[in-house]
Amino acid sequence: MARRRQLYEGKAKVIFEGPEPGTLVCYFKDDATAFNNQKKGTITGKGVLNNRISEFLMLRLQDLGIPTHFLRRLNMREQLVREVEIIPVEVIVRNVAAGSMAKRLGIPEGTPLPRSIVEYCYKSDELGDPLISEEHITAFGWASPQDIDDFLAMSLRVNDFLSGIFLGIGIKLVDFKLEFGRIYDENGDVRIVLADELSPDNMRLWDVNTGEKMDKDRFRRDMGNVEEAYREVARRLGVLPEG
Ligand code: C5P
Repeated sequence: MARRRQLYEGKAKVIFEGPEPGTLVCYFKDDATAFNNQKKGTITGKGVLNNRISEFLMLRLQDLGIPTHFLRRLNMREQLVREVEIIPVEVIVRNVAAGSMAKRLGIPEGTPLPRSIVEYCYKSDELGDPLISEEHITAFGWASPQDIDDFLAMSLRVNDFLSGIFLGIGIKLVDFKLEFGRIYDENGDVRIVLADELSPDNMRLWDVNTGEKMDKDRFRRDMGNVEEAYREVARRLGVLPEG
């Protein structure tokens, strides 16, 4: 196969030009970073597992009618996606207090939230993805009020659906991050679609029975058995690659 032109290298993925216009190839790396790049490492096999896990979850969401950038998995580490204009807003949905929100508000990690809470962060490595409000999003023109309604509606549907999928395999979906992008069709109409990936890199997943963490916090907090945790998530979802 002809060498593809690399467009961008991120922390966990490399993006190449796709075979057709309007498509991109995402290559999933084993590299892991945390605390805004201050901690770096590798999780052997992570790219292969996240490629599978994200494929599985994106396809289930598409079945539900949620538009995503995902087209198809190409091989162990690559997937074909639609090229989107990434909106520089990260949408975080939380069901249980953990991570930065637990710290910021002094709520013990593990406290169930009275209802799901949605937060927004400005996507900027330089600034460490600061927390923002809807006011910032609309005032600075990152997205319109209608876009925000779309983020919110899609994020809550994704939360309900993923919470159910994970509960069915004995896992609590504690929180997760979504990214959205815009696709412009031939008539100039714009559609908002779910982009990026859905994997233990951007979700917190706790075993329902033991409370054990099965996500990137094992790497962030030096808890060990990181690869094993990702493999166990893939195994329970029924997408563990052979070998
Ligand atoms: O660190 P924090 O508690 O804000 O993270 C909330 C959720 O969003 C976690 O599941 C984390 O993995 C995810 N996240 C992410 N990328 C970021 C920030 C958070 O995937 N830049």
